Amino acid sequence: MRGGARNAAPQPARTSDEAFWAAAGALTTGVVLVNAQARILRCNPASEMLFGFSKRALVGTDLSALVDGLKGWLAVLRQQDEQSAPCSFIAEVAAPVRAARRMHVTVSLSGDPDRFLVEVSDVHQAFERFREEHQSDLSGAARGMLRNLAHEIKNPLGGIRGAAQLLELELEDAQLREYTGVIIHESDRLQGLLDRMLVPYRTERRIREINIHEVLERVRSLALAEYREGLAIQRDYDVSLPEIMGDGEQLIQVFLNIVRNAAQALKSEIRKGEGKIVLKTRVARQVTIRSNRYRMALCVKVTDNGPGIDPQLRERIFYPLVTGRADGTGLGLALVKTYVEQHAGSVEVQSVPGRTEFSVLFPLGAPIVRAEG
Ligand SMILES: Nc1ncnc2c1ncn2[C@@H]1O[C@H](COP(=O)(O)OP(=O)(O)OP(=O)(O)O)[C@@H](O)[C@H]1O
Ligand SMILES: [Mg+2]
Repeated sequence: MRGGARNAAPQPARTSDEAFWAAAGALTTGVVLVNAQARILRCNPASEMLFGFSKRALVGTDLSALVDGLKGWLAVLRQQDEQSAPCSFIAEVAAPVRAARRMHVTVSLSGDPDRFLVEVSDVHQAFERFREEHQSDLSGAARGMLRNLAHEIKNPLGGIRGAAQLLELELEDAQLREYTGVIIHESDRLQGLLDRMLVPYRTERRIREINIHEVLERVRSLALAEYREGLAIQRDYDVSLPEIMGDGEQLIQVFLNIVRNAAQALKSEIRKGEGKIVLKTRVARQVTIRSNRYRMALCVKVTDNGPGIDPQLRERIFYPLVTGRADGTGLGLALVKTYVEQHAGSVEVQSVPGRTEFSVLFPLGAPIVRAEG
């Protein structure tokens, strides 16, 4: 630089450049600056997360080795003028720590003909989050509807049962009394089902500090008492985990339902003496639970080596009355979801034949970003 330049105002280009990268540091979208040969010149922290490499490893490498088809789009953009709109496309992105995923990629001109800005966002993750929220809304609505319906059925049912009892007293013919017996028996069965549906809304919650491992140990011993042979329940606990605020009885119900389902699915493995359930606890960092972002959460995973969830049921298992078992009522997982959500947590499942994993997250501390509304 020469002469008067020393007294000139700070160079705007550099300042805005730094401001740009400082702002990019806060984004969850990966932002990468590449040259015309797709060599990475600069990138933000989100791109380290997306590609699974540190910034040091990324700078200098060829981004087209990670983003399928990138070189072709750079060539297209090189032939455009300054005012050209960015190119957006969906590409397979190779991430060594995760499986290759389809991500949304936008390439734009940077103002310098040899520099291009590449934005990468994980559509898969965004779609999963949207799907989760949508499902949660739907199953919440279904649970609400069923709760109202259960209330509506309960009173007339009591009337039907009472009338059948009175009628029974008047009947002398034993064969006719058999009919009233059927009415009373079936009313009782229905009453039992309705009571199970209404349980989560009836019982008063008792919130205190809960050690999740005590909950899991209790569930483990209950399940082992039920399945004395052929089932191993292994623990993989992080004993340094802090306690959570919750209702101990509800949390026992949560994990007992999940573990019981797993044991029921493991029928043939248990017969061969090969049934296996693993209870794992870990801390999870930077998690989003139902649109709230938390620095830390407690994660409990229950994994079994059973046949996996029937694909036809897969999307609906948390809805009430959805069951794959002849003697199931389909209320277990609906109850799990209600209780977990009452603890501000979330529950999800991943299942393939041979491995089914339920993951339950409970936030540790207040959200750092709270969902609106
Ligand atoms: N670990 C698992 N492996 C395979 N399928 C599972 C597993 N957990 C749940 N399922 C499927 O999800 C269905 C719904 O489970 P849910 O606990 O809600 O109801 P249920 O077990 O059928 O009846 P209930 O718990 O009310 O007695 C089950 O019937 C089963 O088909
Ligand atoms: Mg069940």
